[in-house]
Amino acid sequence: MSHLIAPSILAADFANLQKDCEMVNDSQADWFHIDVMDGVFVPNISFGMPVIKAIKKHAKKTMDVHLMIVDPDRYIKTFKEVGADILTVHYEACTHLHITLQAIKAEGMQAGVALNPHTSVDLLKDTIKDIDLVCIMSVNPGFGGQSFIENTYDKVRELKSLIESKGADTKIEIDGGVNSQNAPKLIEAGADVLVAGSFVFRSENPMDTIIGLKNCYFPLR
Ligand code: DX5
Ligand code: ZN
Repeated sequence: MSHLIAPSILAADFANLQKDCEMVNDSQADWFHIDVMDGVFVPNISFGMPVIKAIKKHAKKTMDVHLMIVDPDRYIKTFKEVGADILTVHYEACTHLHITLQAIKAEGMQAGVALNPHTSVDLLKDTIKDIDLVCIMSVNPGFGGQSFIENTYDKVRELKSLIESKGADTKIEIDGGVNSQNAPKLIEAGADVLVAGSFVFRSENPMDTIIGLKNCYFPLR
């Protein structure tokens, strides 16, 4: 399978969400990446259910919802209702991760787990077979537009070997600071899904930028 591209709506124009959703629909992107921040787990607040519902009205691709919130179990059903296909919770925000994963799957969604930069992939060895997607944070969560953390490559390789050793069928997603420099190296290390916010939406031609990330071919800019 070739790798997937998930533009992060956090970097879209919130006053023109329909237009940016249509750009993603018409592009080579595979998923919509949707960041929910509660101002408690991370020091920023993004948007909530009504905005996700509005995105869902226009989005014709998989809705990959990344929850940066405490106690995510409270809202699993609601995120299903507003259109999430994949629901990712933070390892650091779940006391009973196994229960949370089962609850997400019981709602018919794929279950993802995100790891902060300081959280080791080894901590997933007992749950990896229950996880559809691991989101390795390559920045500290909370804001778009930050610089990529270089240690991520090692984490991708470690996670890839954990997945293989357990015979799991888990996708590896990278989130934060993804650009044309690190994308080919991330794919080479074993990443399956690249999230990109500012690199896509702040570029002159977002559709071409998505083609570049999808094909890992980058004309000189
Ligand atoms: C960060 C978010 C990311 C963010 C990525 O907390 O989880 O999804 O939107 O944005 P860039 O690609 O600009 O780092
Ligand atoms: Zn995210």
